[in-house]
Amino acid sequence: MRSLPLRRRELLGMTAGTLAAGLPRTLPAGAEIRFGTAVSADVLARDPAYAELVRRECVLLVPEWEMKWAAVQPEPGRFDFRGLDRIAAFARGNGMALRGHALLWHREAPAWLADRLTPANCESLLRAHFTEVMERHAGLTDSWDVVNEAVEPEDGRADGLRRSFWLERAGEGYIETAFRIAAERAPGAELVYNEYGCEHDGDWSRRRRAAVLRLLERLKGDGVPVHALGLQAHLQAGAPFSSAGLAAFLREVRALGLRVLVTELDVRGGGPGSPAERDAEVASLYRAFLDTVLEQASCDTVVTWGLSDRHSWLRREAGPEERPLPFDEELRPKPAWTALREALAAAEGRHR
Ligand code: XIL
Repeated sequence: MRSLPLRRRELLGMTAGTLAAGLPRTLPAGAEIRFGTAVSADVLARDPAYAELVRRECVLLVPEWEMKWAAVQPEPGRFDFRGLDRIAAFARGNGMALRGHALLWHREAPAWLADRLTPANCESLLRAHFTEVMERHAGLTDSWDVVNEAVEPEDGRADGLRRSFWLERAGEGYIETAFRIAAERAPGAELVYNEYGCEHDGDWSRRRRAAVLRLLERLKGDGVPVHALGLQAHLQAGAPFSSAGLAAFLREVRALGLRVLVTELDVRGGGPGSPAERDAEVASLYRAFLDTVLEQASCDTVVTWGLSDRHSWLRREAGPEERPLPFDEELRPKPAWTALREALAAAEGRHR
């Protein structure tokens, strides 16, 4: 097991090398696409069969909760990295990298943060937090969701920004401040703006796409160090989707000089119908979505928000009948897994 910090290209080289050795990784040999998933430290500890599945199929992990502000700085100045350290140990022990998620978000934040935040102290609060979090496992993490979900057109602002406590308490400059501090703390890292609701067609998504593009254009125009858009990709089977619509949006993102990541992929819904019929509908959207992103955008990262329905957050959020992930309750591969692997293989074929 190497003790040197993994860098993206080394990791990819290792991945390609691993594949050349024929070990059962998802990534086809030579592909430049890292596949990974969100994990919980507690689930990895209590479900060894699931941990083995993650170990077998992933080269990249994202802490599902353990890196969020409420987890790592529950009180001012008191940091708690126990959960994150467990995930980092698992990643290090299995030659994996970590994605940092999420440095700044309006949810999963401790009450003290909104109480204390002002325009005057925003920079110092962010610098203190980012310094501790970004340096904790710096050698494992080369890609960060710096700001998560900052737009909300339904809040009625002309700029489409979300009326979060960040905006209300610190002013709209908090986004630029976050990215500039992240670049200062982790020079050379990939700094990502992460967002949901840009994947489907329809008025709601159209408004979100417009707000995201407006924000990214402003940031890039102001020289803010943002390198990529993270598409959370919490998709809905049966909702309007067109490859053409998503491709047009991705072309506008690429025109800003931004890469694209798939950061939280899962597909809820599907049906009515038998589980097999629902699984087929879900798989079809996995394939259509991934083919579009991997064809249209510079995308080298695909992350699902969990690997098995057994531990999907949607089982808590949307109901126990949800079947959103590539592996079922019994950790058996579903059509969505085949769809995902075929999309990666097709992209690898284009990468040659
Ligand atoms: C969710 C986790 O899955 C839950 O376990 C946690 O309680 C709340 O956060 N978009 C995001 C993720 O960016 O961080 C969220 O993860 C899901 C929605």
